[in-house]
Amino acid sequence: MSETVNTIVNMEGICKSFLSVQALDHVDFSLVKGEIHALVGENGAGKSTLIKVLTGVVQPDAGSIRINGQKEVIRSTQHAQALGISTVYQEVNLCPHLSVAENILIGREPHKFGFIDRNAMNAAAREILDGLGVDMDVTLPLGTCSVALQQMAAIARALEIANAKVLVLDEPTSSLDANETAQLFTVMRRLKGEGVSIIFITHFLNQIYEVANRITVLRNGTLVGTYDVKSLSRLELITKMIGRSLVEYDEMVNIKKESRKFIKDEAWLKAEQLSRAESSGWQVCWVQGAPRLPNSSLESIIPPAERCASMTPKLKISHR
Ligand SMILES: Nc1ncnc2c1ncn2[C@@H]1O[C@H](COP(=O)(O)OP(=O)(O)O)[C@@H](O)[C@H]1O
Ligand SMILES: [Mg+2]
Repeated sequence: MSETVNTIVNMEGICKSFLSVQALDHVDFSLVKGEIHALVGENGAGKSTLIKVLTGVVQPDAGSIRINGQKEVIRSTQHAQALGISTVYQEVNLCPHLSVAENILIGREPHKFGFIDRNAMNAAAREILDGLGVDMDVTLPLGTCSVALQQMAAIARALEIANAKVLVLDEPTSSLDANETAQLFTVMRRLKGEGVSIIFITHFLNQIYEVANRITVLRNGTLVGTYDVKSLSRLELITKMIGRSLVEYDEMVNIKKESRKFIKDEAWLKAEQLSRAESSGWQVCWVQGAPRLPNSSLESIIPPAERCASMTPKLKISHR
């Protein structure tokens, strides 16, 4: 992958397996100064694992990472923070009973005569939040603030602990309403303007088009590609994420719908077709004569023989 002077993070050929699961298979990822870079893919695509590798939570099996052109082995989250990389997780994991200011400056509170200097701490927290354009009472217990404001406090803290040049936001908007999301985007744009690079993980495609500059798509642990937002339509993005065209996807959904309708309309399962189970456990069997449904399999779950009289056999239809 080509690297420019503006490249802050350059990950190349990253591999990571968990037992038999190849979570990342030779994935490349780069981040340039002052960009908002969306990281997308279906569940299980490998997004979180890639972030964990970058933030020192897990070690890759292979591949290299360069931060500002310097090769690094990121051993821990503290090490990542020392390199200016900080993460705000989906669930705000701060202390609800402590004040906003305490949460932002925890472990780094200013002291005077051996005691925490509360006035200085509140003033420092206010200054950081002012820098983000966020107006909130820093003396309130964090738990009394809205989720959006707690998110802001978490971002302020992430920036404070790492003097972050790279900020990872893992699904930050999942519990925010439209106004709160807009407020978060204002903060993200402001940080971007100051040269902070943001990795933004989200499931909301509209948000990507609203705020991101580039998109990296992962699928089943492999890199599909990195694209400029302007050069990739929403349809193309979805196709890349799911690995098939929307027409094919629609067909699949229709087949499932049809199958369900068919199952509902036709009384094709007769009681005498069920075999009685002699064992004490539940028996799973294929029902003779059941209709063949495209992309689906049928299992009937039959209660043990002694309970047959009192129980209705249960059916489970699973679609592949
Ligand atoms: N600690 C782990 N142990 C076992 N498997 C894991 C672990 N972390 C992730 N995986 C697997 O790796 C794959 C990628 O997961 P993940 O990176 O969490 O994907 P995403 O964040 O895109 O949903 C999935 O199949 C997941 O089950
Ligand atoms: Mg994830």
